[in-house]
Parts: sequence; structure tokens; C-alpha cells
Amino acid sequence: MTTEIRRLRDALGCFTTGVCVVTAATDTGVIGLTINSFASVSLDPPLVLWSLDRASDRAEAFHIVDRFAINVLSEEMQAISSALAKKGAHAVPVEALDPGPHEVPILHGALAQFICTVENRHDGGDHVIFVGRVTEFRQSEGAAPLIYYRGKYRTLAEA
Ligand SMILES: Cc1cc2nc3c(=O)[nH]c(=O)nc-3n(C[C@H](O)[C@H](O)[C@H](O)COP(=O)(O)O)c2cc1C
Repeated sequence: MTTEIRRLRDALGCFTTGVCVVTAATDTGVIGLTINSFASVSLDPPLVLWSLDRASDRAEAFHIVDRFAINVLSEEMQAISSALAKKGAHAVPVEALDPGPHEVPILHGALAQFICTVENRHDGGDHVIFVGRVTEFRQSEGAAPLIYYRGKYRTLAEA
């Protein structure tokens, strides 16, 4: 990574975000990826987006799936966030999954979950932008969000 790219990454890190895990069912089991590029796009139709690093080990698997779920993490979920941000750590442990019959596997304890069909994939330079159409969503009350700022996890209480 060049100095200029590192400076850009550090400047982008000043934008405070939540943290999500994208989950999807594949032939080899449930995969997950920690992301903070999630954004809402449109209410009607209901569209959201996230971007995937082309260099990710998980890129091939995510290019095949036609559905995914965005799980918005609570502050209790930092461990799974770190686990699913590790190189090569794609498999979501069964105990982390919500056991209900969902069209796409979702994470237990998430603040909100958006189940999506892939509407479009767009070129985004060294990333691919996934636009998803939300077919089902849920939210839970009470829990606090996991936050990411300047390359570190934070909590609302700390902020
Ligand atoms: C807070 C946080 C946010 C991240 N956001 C993204 C993202 O939006 N898109 C992405 O492709 N990778 C993102 N990553 C990196 C991936 O989680 C993962 O570390 C990376 O893809 C390398 O692993 P892989 O090659 O096995 O996929 C993020 C990591 C962290 C810790």
C-alpha cells in the first residue's frame, strides 16, 4: 500500500460507521464477512448497498450467491466481527446463527437484519458494489450498536 493510499484510508476512517456482517448460504456452508461499507440507497424500491474488495478470498463465493443478509452488529458482537474480518475465516459458526427458518442465514443478536436479493453488481474500482433489494427485515430494541472510527471499535457509551 502506498503512503498516499494509506493517507486516504486514514482520512476515510474519520467517517464514523456502524459495523455489519454480510452472511450468505453457499454449497460449502454459511459464509460471513465483516463490512462497514453498508448504506441505505432507496426506500421505494427498498435498496441497500455494500462494497466487496475484489482481492477478498470471499469474492468468488459472493459473486455466485443471489441472496445475502446484512446483519447490523451490537456492541456485544465485537468478537464475531473480528473473527469474520480475519483472512481466510469465512465460515460462520452454527452457534452464531439464528436458528429460525430464514431464506438467508442471519446472525443471532444483531440490532437489525436486512435480507436481500442481489439487484445489481457495479464496478467500484478495486471493490464491487453490491446493490440489494430488501425482501424482509427485522430490528430489535434495546441493544447498543458496535461503532468503528479511525480503525478501532468503539461503543456509544465511550463516545
Ligand atoms: C470494521 C471493518 C470493516 C470492513 N469493511 C469492509 C468492507 O466494507 N468491504 C470489504 O470488502 N472488506 C471490509 N473489511 C475487511 C474484511 O472484513 C476482511 O478483513 C478482508 O476481506 C480480508 O479477508 P478475506 O480476504 O479472507 O476476505 C472490513 C474489516 C473491518 C474490521
